[in-house]
Amino acid sequence: MGAPPSDTEGTVAAFAPGRVNLIGDHTDHTGGLVLPMAIDLGTTVAGQRGGDRVVLRSAEEAEPAVVSLDIGEPAGAEPPWARYVAGVVAELRPPVGLTGTVATTLPVGSGLSSSAALEVAVALALGAEGPPLVLAELCQRAEQRASGVPCGIMDQLASTAGIDGHALLIDCHARIIEPVPLPDDVEVVVVDSGEARALAGSAYAERRTECEAAEAIIGPLRCCRPGDERGIADISLRRRARHVIGENARVRSFAAALAAGDMTTAGAAMAASHGSLRDDFAVSTPTLDALVERLSARPGVHGARLTGAGFGGCVVALASPGALTEGWRVRPSPGARLVASPAPSAPSGGAGTGAR
Ligand code: GLA
Repeated sequence: MGAPPSDTEGTVAAFAPGRVNLIGDHTDHTGGLVLPMAIDLGTTVAGQRGGDRVVLRSAEEAEPAVVSLDIGEPAGAEPPWARYVAGVVAELRPPVGLTGTVATTLPVGSGLSSSAALEVAVALALGAEGPPLVLAELCQRAEQRASGVPCGIMDQLASTAGIDGHALLIDCHARIIEPVPLPDDVEVVVVDSGEARALAGSAYAERRTECEAAEAIIGPLRCCRPGDERGIADISLRRRARHVIGENARVRSFAAALAAGDMTTAGAAMAASHGSLRDDFAVSTPTLDALVERLSARPGVHGARLTGAGFGGCVVALASPGALTEGWRVRPSPGARLVASPAPSAPSGGAGTGAR
């Protein structure tokens, strides 16, 4: 467990990055392998600690989030974006509130984990302390309670544990992170399909249930080898399992290729990942497929695939510098951090301004 949240009052600001997943989708919830990176777009929460409510205004939202520190179930909070703030408050139970603002450079709701970035920045601004994994687990629970979607750990952990210049090979069962340097001569480009991720919540939960059903037949998917899914009679469950088992293997091969600078193998793994998400896991859409096909055909593009949960959202491409002019060129970036801390409590008569 992390240390209890600090009760120091005063001015605070916290930044949390979004993430893009290079490969390894729909593997985290079965304890598999993922390879995301924190990106240089993110969310800043800044304000004044104190009081018994969290009051945050965002330029992106018409209504502020107003959350009392003794909030019950976060899922009913209004407006909807306040649920993520409420989820963090319900999990963290900070001793003091916060009044301030939320500013983001992330496109909201496009699959770059804007909600994870919001949760992590809110948690840090409210005084959450402890290692990146503990903070990520708290924010994962907040997300699950806020959205009702049984998400895995990837988004929050990429945001808290990001490393400059590196993608993160994460074993979601052992919770071990291995940094993988991104070669200097490749660019990561994210292109928004423009398609809203309408089904993402309900279909995500359905896929997760299907994976559990497959595991009840052949055991933990993270321990299976390609081909083990043949023991599953139901064709659609067999396909779901084949995706997860194959994707875990592809993450390993992609990470090794990246470390060796072998972009042909890395790109092929991305193409295979997209095909598997489309055909076996059934989370792609014709719009995403067409975008992946168009980007992959460009000279200098090593590979492209849908990234995140699917059902719309973004495509990620790995390319030679300058090969793609559209989308966002994102850099692997450090994880979440406080950018302004409240002054520690000072003895009475001391210089501290914000101490209780
Ligand atoms: C969403 C979830 C993650 C992960 C991805 C798919 O982003 O929040 O936990 O499962 O989908 O890889």
